[in-house]
Amino acid sequence: MTAGWALAAALVLCVGLVAGKDNLRVAYGWREMDFKYDSPEQRWSAIEKGAFKPANVLPFGLEIHRNRMFVTLPRWREGVPASLAYFDLNDNSTTMPVLTPFPSWVAHSLTEADPELVSPFRVRADRCGRLWVLDSRISGVLEKTKLYGPAQLSVYDLHNDNLLRRHVLPEGQTKQSSFFANLAVDDGDCENTFAYLADLGAPGLVVYSWKERESWRVQHHFFHPDPMSGNFSIQGIEFQWDDGLYGLALSKPQSNGFATLYFHPLSSTMEFSVSTSVLRNKTLATSSDIYREFKVLGSRGLNAQAGAQCLDAETGVLFYALPNQNSVGCWQTSNSYKSQDRVYTSSNDLVFPSDVKIDDERRLWVLSNQLQVFIYDELYPGSINFRIMTASVKDAITGTSCNVVASKLPEIISRIDDILKPLPGLKTSKSSAGATTYSLGAMLLACCLLLRSWLL
Ligand SMILES: *[C@@H]1O[C@H](CO)[C@@H](O)[C@H](O)[C@H]1NC(C)=O
Ligand SMILES: *[C@@H]1O[C@H](CO)[C@@H](O)[C@H](O)[C@H]1NC(C)=O
Ligand SMILES: *[C@@H]1O[C@H](CO)[C@@H](O)[C@H](O)[C@H]1NC(C)=O
Repeated sequence: MTAGWALAAALVLCVGLVAGKDNLRVAYGWREMDFKYDSPEQRWSAIEKGAFKPANVLPFGLEIHRNRMFVTLPRWREGVPASLAYFDLNDNSTTMPVLTPFPSWVAHSLTEADPELVSPFRVRADRCGRLWVLDSRISGVLEKTKLYGPAQLSVYDLHNDNLLRRHVLPEGQTKQSSFFANLAVDDGDCENTFAYLADLGAPGLVVYSWKERESWRVQHHFFHPDPMSGNFSIQGIEFQWDDGLYGLALSKPQSNGFATLYFHPLSSTMEFSVSTSVLRNKTLATSSDIYREFKVLGSRGLNAQAGAQCLDAETGVLFYALPNQNSVGCWQTSNSYKSQDRVYTSSNDLVFPSDVKIDDERRLWVLSNQLQVFIYDELYPGSINFRIMTASVKDAITGTSCNVVASKLPEIISRIDDILKPLPGLKTSKSSAGATTYSLGAMLLACCLLLRSWLL
């Protein structure tokens, strides 16, 4: 028992030393989302007809391009008048901006035979001025479900908001239980851009080549959910999810010219990676020879299932949402995967972090939306339900282990690894007092090494 307390104290000490500084601030907050209609009469008419039910509109994904903040508003239920919209980041007259549908109201009209947009969960803006919209083509995920055909990728020109291209996923690349909810865009070359589309329903990854105008589906065990990691519990709401591939983030190109894709299933605490050189080669990616090309990075630990993630190319820091912990985590990709930290935690401001993005000015943006209340209970329209938080990447990682100079730490961290590896005491409370004390010593030593590496 004494050894246990001492270990706990040592952990608190260590965590205290490397803890994040919670530097994010709330930039926007909404009770309910609202839209910019042509006139107040049109807005009221939409509400009367049930075309706009404010209680059913939930912001889910973010993206930033120049002065525009894009927000996806998936059609979980009826009454979502537009599933993709934006507001102006330069307009600082309000912290509850109303949304303008993108690219137009007409694009969201479900009375069209083949609507332009049905229900995107995520969008990505690339550095070439294009917006990549991954449309699930499913309306009413939670009630009155209607399918509008297979998922599709729509690419817009952000200079004039024109639709440049529409790629409907061909047969065989979507399955009966497919659900495409996230994507990454590999925009190193504007003419030879690739999009990676994550299927969380029928675990898989679809690769789309802009140049070749074709896509292919990649299978791997690492895209599957972990049956032991499906238990979620957020602010007293408990639920079980069985979702596959979800979180995606790209590094900048490595020495071979190809970026690394970091990825994880939603119902999992594991992180994996693969070089895009494997994914981009259709022959290789669709063959059965790729198993060993995928790497296991490690586990984030109990209750550390992660949602969306993004990577800051300059520092190499990966940011990810931790819904079970009301937290945004970070990992310096040049360090060992054991060296995780938290950037921000709040059971008030950050209930269900739903998206994390970094803009061109290297500001981090985080959306929290209380998704678990929206799905399993009911949001109270009198309080702030949705928040967008922000900080510069620099401020966000200040005081965290993600800020540690990469050249010194990996060596230290791998040494810590070696010290701790053979010790069972750290992982189980049932271990003998001797083992615990032993590992406590190792822990303290590790802390000292870490501290020293910083102070030097
Ligand atoms: C809004 O932003 C402009 C330009 O950044 C600034 O000059 C102005 O003081 C801001 N207004 C408020 C109310 O913060
Ligand atoms: C799921 O999580 C809750 C809350 O942490 C816990 O009480 C419950 O025992 C867990 N259930 C399973 C099957 O692990
Ligand atoms: C793609 O992969 C195949 C099979 O491994 C290989 O033979 C081929 O050279 C690769 N193509 C390119 C362009 O790298």
